This record gives sequence, structure tokens and C-alpha cells, in this order.
Amino acid sequence: MKYRPRRLRKSKNIRALTRETKISPDNFIHPVFVVEGQNVKEEIPGLSGFFHRSVDLLPELIDEILALGINAVLIFGIPEAKDEQGSYAWKDEGAVQKAVLKLKKQYPKLVIFSDLCLCAYTSHGHCGIVRDDKIDNDKTLKVLEKVALSHAQAGVDFVSPSDMMDGRVSAVRRKLDQSGYSEVGIMSYSAKYASTFYGPFRDAARSEPSFGDRKTYQMDPANSLEAAKEVKLDINEGADIVMVKPALPYLDIIKGIKESINIPLAAYSVSGEYAMIKAASKEGVFSDEEVMFEVMTAIKRAGADIIITYYAKEMAGYCNKGVG
Ligand code: PBG
Repeated sequence: MKYRPRRLRKSKNIRALTRETKISPDNFIHPVFVVEGQNVKEEIPGLSGFFHRSVDLLPELIDEILALGINAVLIFGIPEAKDEQGSYAWKDEGAVQKAVLKLKKQYPKLVIFSDLCLCAYTSHGHCGIVRDDKIDNDKTLKVLEKVALSHAQAGVDFVSPSDMMDGRVSAVRRKLDQSGYSEVGIMSYSAKYASTFYGPFRDAARSEPSFGDRKTYQMDPANSLEAAKEVKLDINEGADIVMVKPALPYLDIIKGIKESINIPLAAYSVSGEYAMIKAASKEGVFSDEEVMFEVMTAIKRAGADIIITYYAKEMAGYCNKGVG
């Protein structure tokens, strides 16, 4: 036999040498949920190992992730109060703004992304300003601009709009540029699907909509051409990084987009993907580490450069051990 593919599978080191796709901790972004107050650290139901933390207790987490080789975080804020306009989202003294300020000062090399959305801040739980039970796209843009500016003033590296309003990337880009923050980047949740996999996150962010659903702004899971269109729009509007979300049920979307763009692509492996694997592992169905390694590898193989995952810490530990 001339060809024996098994030769390249003979030992762990040969497999490692010839492996096509490798995941590494510096590809990961670790989500962080920050709340108001002092000395708060409360586990989030449905997201085991994740906590609502006050700003003063963030360093213990950041020290831990940096030691594992994870250099980036995505910050979500949970405000002390909500209103119709989501006005706590742009307070200078808000949890996100304070967290960014503190972390940039204490860890200048940490790459900080901030989630830019109103859903955790509005009393109705929608990602935009509501008028007559409808989401007003262009009014929402004005608010997002203000929130983005407040994150930039605190020192964020990238704002990350996740609301799926039309035209948000260009509105935010223009506002940042006009205000002297041209170095602050935008990672856009470009192809964000209306997914049931966000369930545990909505408990974490206390952002379940009080009426209706998010289907008038998030994408229909049936559509892939539309993902290509959304990504193209965001790149034209000035996005530095585009994202597909969720990840595992949308590998085809990740692959299709990767082949058609020349900027970095992120994939968000969302709360429900994490919870599902954790639950199965708790039932003794399989080892969550090994399954998660397979899943992360698949997301990377499909074309993601960056993976946002609740599994970042455990995966980093696993990668650092040298697997395969
Ligand atoms: C806010 C936002 C959501 C997620 C990230 N940003 C939830 C949503 O759209 O309802 C989901 C993240 C996850 O499930 O891990 N718009």
C-alpha cells in the first residue's frame, strides 16, 4: 500500500506535529458580569462557575485568566436600576465604566471588550427604545452612541454592539471618531441569530424581554445569505472584527463568512451551549473537557479566529496540558 494515512496518527507527537487546527488560550475572550456595589460575588444560576461580581472583586478573576494565558475579556454590566431608556447604560459611575477604568489601570495589557446593548438596562428588557410596542431603530442608535462614548472614555479597547439595530456600526464609528476615540475599535455581533441558546445568559443579565421576543431585530436561524449581507454591511460601516453567534449550531455560517472576508472573525459560543455540555457531563454522559475541546476545535476549524466562551478558563488549562 502506497498510502497509509495511519502513519500520521502513530503517536501523540506526530499527531500534534501534523494537526491542522489548534486552539490556544490567546484566541479566547472570557465573559465577565459586573454588578454595582462592593464585595459582591454571587454564582449565576444556569452558568456554573460564573459570578456576578462587583468591580472590587474583578482582580481575582483577571489574575486567574492572565495566568492561564487568556488576555481578553468581554464585559457585561447589570445595573442597580432600569428604566424605559436604559439610562444607567451611559452613567459615568456605571458598573461597566468603573470596571473598564479600574482594569485598564491595573492591567494595561488586558484587552477589554464591552458589550454594547440596552437589554440589561431597559425596564422592558428589549435591546432598543420602545415606542408603541415597537423597537425604534434610529432612536436606539442615538442612545447606543452615548453608551459607546462612555465606554470609550473609560478606556475600553473595543465596543461590541449586540443589539442588531440597522446602521449601528456606522453610528457608533462616527460618534467615536468625532469625539477623539478613533483608536477604539468595534467588534460587531454581525450575524446574531434569535436563539433559544441565550436562555442562561438572560437570567445572568436579567434581560428577558417583558413582552414579545427579539425576532424583529435578531436574525432568523433559517437564513445564511442574510448573514453574509449583515457581515458585509458591518464591514462597510467600519467594523474591525465581525462575529457569528451562537457558534456550534451555526458552523456553516462561520465557514461561509470566513471564506468571504479579510478581517478577523469571532464566534460566540453562548450560554446555552455551555450549559448543555455541563449538564450532560453532570449526568455522566461524557467528560465535558474532552467534548468542549472537540467543540472549540470545530468552531476554529470552521473559521473562527476568536472564540468567546464560558469555557475559556477550563479550556486554557486543558490546552496548556498539551492534548491530543
Ligand atoms: C445582549 C446579549 C445577549 C447575549 C450577549 N449579548 C442576549 C440576548 O440577545 O438576548 C447572549 C450571550 C449568551 O447567551 O451567552 N443583547
